[in-house]
Amino acid sequence: MNRVFIKTYGCQMNERDSEAVAAMLRARGYRIVQDENACDVMLLNTCSVRDMAEQKAIGKAGYLSQRKKRNPRFVIGILGCMAQNRGAALLDALPDVDLIVGTQKFHQVPDHLDNLRAAQEAGAVLPTRIVDIAEEAGSQNTIKDHLLPQDEPGRAGTPLPADASGSQPSTLNSQPGSGSEPLPQVTAFVSIQQGCNMDCAFCIVPKTRGDERSRPMDEIVRECEELADRGVREITLLGQIVTSYGRRDYQHTGGVSPFVQLLERVNAISGIRRIRFTSPHPRGFKDDLVAAYGRLEKLCEYVHLPMQSGSDRILRLMNRPYSRDRYRQIVDDLRRVRPDMYFSTDIIVGFPGETAEDFEQTRALFEACNYDMAYIFKYSIRSGTPAAELADQVPDEVKEERNQILLRLLEQNSDRRNATLLGTTQEVLVEGPDKKGLGYMGRTRGNRIVHFAAHERLIGELVPVKINRASTAVLYGELELAGVEP
Ligand code: SAH
Ligand code: F3S
Repeated sequence: MNRVFIKTYGCQMNERDSEAVAAMLRARGYRIVQDENACDVMLLNTCSVRDMAEQKAIGKAGYLSQRKKRNPRFVIGILGCMAQNRGAALLDALPDVDLIVGTQKFHQVPDHLDNLRAAQEAGAVLPTRIVDIAEEAGSQNTIKDHLLPQDEPGRAGTPLPADASGSQPSTLNSQPGSGSEPLPQVTAFVSIQQGCNMDCAFCIVPKTRGDERSRPMDEIVRECEELADRGVREITLLGQIVTSYGRRDYQHTGGVSPFVQLLERVNAISGIRRIRFTSPHPRGFKDDLVAAYGRLEKLCEYVHLPMQSGSDRILRLMNRPYSRDRYRQIVDDLRRVRPDMYFSTDIIVGFPGETAEDFEQTRALFEACNYDMAYIFKYSIRSGTPAAELADQVPDEVKEERNQILLRLLEQNSDRRNATLLGTTQEVLVEGPDKKGLGYMGRTRGNRIVHFAAHERLIGELVPVKINRASTAVLYGELELAGVEP
């Protein structure tokens, strides 16, 4: 009765949280299984950023009730943002759920499962339910254990299930960690901060994730060193607003912000070969961070810089404290430091009151920035956020039309970029076998996925790959290693 299946909805933060829960459960003697039909406990790690993501998890939990009717000992848990957002009220809609655990309580999941099992074994007459969504001081430091081969020897090739589509539809590519990285693990997410204090008018995250809290820099660096010792070569630093990292805890030194100091320290770890981060806020993207791209050789020339809107009027309504000109300036400055920079972004179309003219400003800025990748979202009302109260909601068909316009532009950009890559040799970090098991996959520094023939011993190596074919989302190539047979 100890087989656990974790289904993850939403962003990389959720994937990271699921990994940490899995590691803690393993340490407690639970088995993390990959087949949802062969588990005793199903945990849904949920997303609240848009209504669609919540509906998916609610639908899944409702469906699982049937399974519980057949097997009353089957345990259903809801973790993460929706658990935090809706709390015990979820039990009204989903009476068969046993466990509700909020975003500051992931580390309590093993205890709660132990208690549920003990109650079952004691033959509790009434169902035992646990709801744990309180705030907890220091909880930003609890997500640090990693799912690595050492945790479960001999279980190579068993990544966690992940469903990025809940949070990130309209993608042409996928972000690190959303594919099936086999073990040994080559890339890792490292959480550097929890929560957010920005209060963007559309966003539920400050409510679901709480106040912005940073992890101590020494601890993050130690975690990265440990990961490097265990074979990880690429680190993605994660937070809701990484550019604010440590602003209350550390001084600027010589004009260098705490976040850039952290990048410097990770850059100095010898086993680490590549660094990425997500997400910065345009407001905090200062010259010291731009300059870091010119001097930190491991910092990949790929930036995810959420724009949200290209209209100054809408940005103000969104409570996003920057202008379209400032945004454009950051992009230009970065391209000046790294002409080969790759950009991705988040856009919301159909924010309340967005006129055709506002959207045209977004479209024009989107085109000018020449993104390689973008997550384009149709505005979704989140109750409890300031924007939910705004009149002038944009009709669905208009949102869809604007969505399609940006998607088409993105596809053109991606194809144009691919055309420039054909015939070139790119440095690729070999992550492991591709999903179909036909060959291997890795990423360029620009975060493009590349498929090619390779050998298991090259996993974790940076190799030159000559690009000879491209689809919109994926590149195909051949290893160019003298003397190494694929
Ligand atoms: N600070 C985080 C944002 C998390 S939410 C980060 O930058 O990673 C991820 C994205 O979801 C946001 O950037 C925004 O584009 C989108 N989003 C947030 N709330 C939304 C809403 N109510 N409707 C549609 N999209 C939304
Ligand atoms: Fe949300 Fe804005 Fe923070 S998008 S997570 S409130 S920076």
